Amino acid sequence: MPGIIVVGTQWGDEGKGKAVDALGEKVDLVVRYSGGNNAGHTVVVGGEKFIMHLLPAGILNRNATTVIGNGVVVDLDVLYHELDGLAARGEVVSHPLVSANAHLITSYHQTLDKVTERFAGKKRIGTTGRGIGPTYSDKVNRVGIRVADLLDPELLHDKVVASLEQKNQILVKIFNRREINADLVTEQLLGHADRIRPYIVDCGRLLNDELDKGKVVLFEGAQAHHLDVDHGTYPFVTSSNPTAGGACTGTGVGPTRIDRVIGVVKAYTTRVGEGPFPTELLDADGERLRADGGEFGATTGRPRRCGWFDAPVVEVANRVNGCTDVFLTKLDVLSGWDEIPVCVGYQINGRRSDVYPMTQSEVQAAKPIYQMMPGWKQDITAVRRFDRLPANCQAYVKRLEELIRCRISGIGVGPGREQAIMLNELV
Ligand code: GDP
Ligand code: IMO
Ligand code: MG
Repeated sequence: MPGIIVVGTQWGDEGKGKAVDALGEKVDLVVRYSGGNNAGHTVVVGGEKFIMHLLPAGILNRNATTVIGNGVVVDLDVLYHELDGLAARGEVVSHPLVSANAHLITSYHQTLDKVTERFAGKKRIGTTGRGIGPTYSDKVNRVGIRVADLLDPELLHDKVVASLEQKNQILVKIFNRREINADLVTEQLLGHADRIRPYIVDCGRLLNDELDKGKVVLFEGAQAHHLDVDHGTYPFVTSSNPTAGGACTGTGVGPTRIDRVIGVVKAYTTRVGEGPFPTELLDADGERLRADGGEFGATTGRPRRCGWFDAPVVEVANRVNGCTDVFLTKLDVLSGWDEIPVCVGYQINGRRSDVYPMTQSEVQAAKPIYQMMPGWKQDITAVRRFDRLPANCQAYVKRLEELIRCRISGIGVGPGREQAIMLNELV
């Protein structure tokens, strides 16, 4: 089972960090393929909490080599802040290998992200402010800076100058900001060049060689299906392809090398930032879910918007990503309700739809149709076998499995590494 993708199926924060960690020690390499430090992947080991933003969460699996793929956008300050932070906590981790083709987030990308959001006012996306969108825009616009450019300071400087030519005009004339100095930016970037140089790799070649040797490669998705720039709730999305296809383009392996796609699914729904969210609860029930689930952003600390499980949201993600298995997380958070509503379809302008809508207007108009599932009162955080779960809890999982059309192979019953029920082997 050498090529495995872990992908978010909702709006992020499903527990991908926990799922990656649960796959454990049989994994030889863990690769991030999209996004950057907009992610926040939490792993709890022995009661200690670690949040990885740019580093793959799999870095805490000591056997695994970690890789940052070409599809990722890299903030070098964050890379070293995270690595040094882990070292300061006594964690022995190796420096990740970094694709020569990955793009660099610079200070001007962060500035542009923030001023654009402020300028947009009510129409803002609610980005993480980490410079993600402007960096991907530059990549597609062919004025980006890549990791390999650190190896050629003159070329790097030329590229920074070229990239800033238009941006400085925009910053000064539209946003009333000061010009950004190309020499300073180049200097900032080169400050990390010596440290990263030995770890710059041809990512596609490396991964294909390792897969040839039969090594297990785990592709760690960030963000999620509904934040994907093609498949998500555009324009309220991130600027990359977190979906499973992104694992191929974002690392340089072909689709035939992927053997398993694990969709990570939260037992209810959350979202951070702006954009449509049909099952959102703006009442005391939403507050209760937020409190019980500790739903505050791992990256920005923002309170997450909370709502009931939305089956069509996950069903479409499972199909588009070709999920072979689902890892269901945070089932324990639902303990204590008398009844738990599950969204099985929508009313859209007087018409019923059982599938996720096609257009933005329909998603925005969608009113959830709920099936009520009986709840359970017991604490399930210590349960390790499916048949030991309360009967109503088992029925909830089985109903979800039916609605999302994918087998559930793992269940999270708490944040800790050991708090999982495994139904099918995943590696
Ligand atoms: P990611 O971005 O998909 O990796 O998810 P985050 O780390 O942003 O958010 C998931 C949160 O839920 C973290 O605080 C995890 O520690 C926690 N978590 C993950 N799985 C479970 C679970 O099964 N039960 C509970 N109670 N918490 C979980
Ligand atoms: P993980 O990997 C949840 C959201 C932001 C915003 C939108 C665009 O932890 O699941 P961006 O900064 O990417 O341009 O912001 O995407 N967003 C996330 N929401 N989890 C994430 O990552 C996210 N990464 C970006 O809140 O709405
Ligand atoms: Mg997160």
